[in-house]
Amino acid sequence: MWRRSSVVHVVDELARAQRRERWRVEVEALLVGLAWAVWSVRLELALVLVLAVMQRLVGGVLGWIAVVACVAGVVAIPRTRRFLGHLLRAMHVRRAWARATIDAGVAAGPFRCPGVWSVSRVPAGDVLDVHVRRGQSVADLDARSEHLAACLRAREVRVLRDRRNAARASVLVIRRDPFEDAAPVTWPSVTTERLSLWEPVPLGVDEQGEHVAVSLVERNVLIGGEPGAGKSAALSVVIAAATLDPETRVWLLDGKLVELAAWAPLARKVAGPSGDDALALLREVRDVMDERYRELLAKGQRKVRRGDGLPLHLVVCDELAFYLTVPERAVQKEFAELLRDLVARGRAAGVIVCAATQKPGADVVPSALRDLFGFRLAMRCTTPQASDTILGQGWASAGADASDIPGAQRGVGYLLADGDRPVRMRGYYLSDEDVSAIAERASAARADKWLAEGVSA
Ligand SMILES: Nc1ncnc2c1ncn2[C@@H]1O[C@H](COP(=O)(O)OP(=O)(O)O)[C@@H](O)[C@H]1O
Ligand SMILES: [Mg+2]
Repeated sequence: MWRRSSVVHVVDELARAQRRERWRVEVEALLVGLAWAVWSVRLELALVLVLAVMQRLVGGVLGWIAVVACVAGVVAIPRTRRFLGHLLRAMHVRRAWARATIDAGVAAGPFRCPGVWSVSRVPAGDVLDVHVRRGQSVADLDARSEHLAACLRAREVRVLRDRRNAARASVLVIRRDPFEDAAPVTWPSVTTERLSLWEPVPLGVDEQGEHVAVSLVERNVLIGGEPGAGKSAALSVVIAAATLDPETRVWLLDGKLVELAAWAPLARKVAGPSGDDALALLREVRDVMDERYRELLAKGQRKVRRGDGLPLHLVVCDELAFYLTVPERAVQKEFAELLRDLVARGRAAGVIVCAATQKPGADVVPSALRDLFGFRLAMRCTTPQASDTILGQGWASAGADASDIPGAQRGVGYLLADGDRPVRMRGYYLSDEDVSAIAERASAARADKWLAEGVSA
């Protein structure tokens, strides 16, 4: 009897201890939850507190009038309204981010979420400057990006690790396609009098609304994409920049003859669909390049430098595949060999090659030539494989797939240039009127330069 009651007593004691423990855990979770809820609305609470203090300080009806006047003042002034709107929105994004990281399994719980140091709004959505906590990694974030996107009800979440700090990442929460239904974006230098090709050339805008500019010196660019994707338009922007630099010599190869016709008066030489013309042009550029190397040797220099007085040469080839598939095999072969030579050796001599083609596959463009192009621009393609042929193997599966560009989005493409990964951007567009205005201005600048040199000579 005694034994039985003591066992019951022990069991009761144990059950009470378990209940106490459960209760303690629940109270703790409740307190953390409460603290967390208060912490997430700290800005809103602080604002209410400021108003409450103001009302108390002024007191009575006057106090309420002061509160109303203060709120009305903030709302009425566009700058303060925008500022407050931005602050409140940033807090909202932070809260959503924190919830998402907990639900997606990145953070173990409240106060363990990767911190958001700043939130900025961009055309595609929001960019978060994120710092992960001890024990977390940016790779974890990247691995859970699909879950995060689903929690945030976003189209996509892109995580870009800071190269200098493993704990820091720039997280792009893509909520909309900034290139959807957007009107063509005019080239910012459309009214500029003069440019220098030694400076980066603005090519387009990225998803964050930033200008994308690339320095073409010592670079070669390959543009690929289906017909109508915007390849010739992209080439036009590069040519415009080169012609606005009176020092630069432009060489044009245009398989269709009409695409680049407006720039013809500014070019050193133009080759149309004739294979022989194209070969003659490339041979001439090769001779210029060889001569340039002799000059560099004489000067004891290894490459052209800004201020040398040695002009840059831009060789533009639209419809590259056309020249590589002409019926005469000897022409095909020599064309590929000459172009490969220019792309391979031209960089240090100041020769820049920009080529566009619908089909950069190895059956059309020899890999030995294609692989030499440092910069790639993949505009809309039909398949992920075609996109990879332009950008390089593996990019389509890593999210840079030009076949996912909608057909209506002309001029949109993935640019693989100086950065680690391709940047989705919309190329600037020059209308026919813009092109003729720029060509006219460029001709005038070149004539002025020629006259000035003639007078001083
Ligand atoms: N960056 C752009 N922005 C807006 N529209 C563009 C852009 N690039 C091209 N387009 C439109 O697409 C059409 C086809 O462009 P084009 O450069 O001729 O294509 P491709 O050379 O690839 O066949 C142009 O006539 C123009 O209307
Ligand atoms: Mg074209």
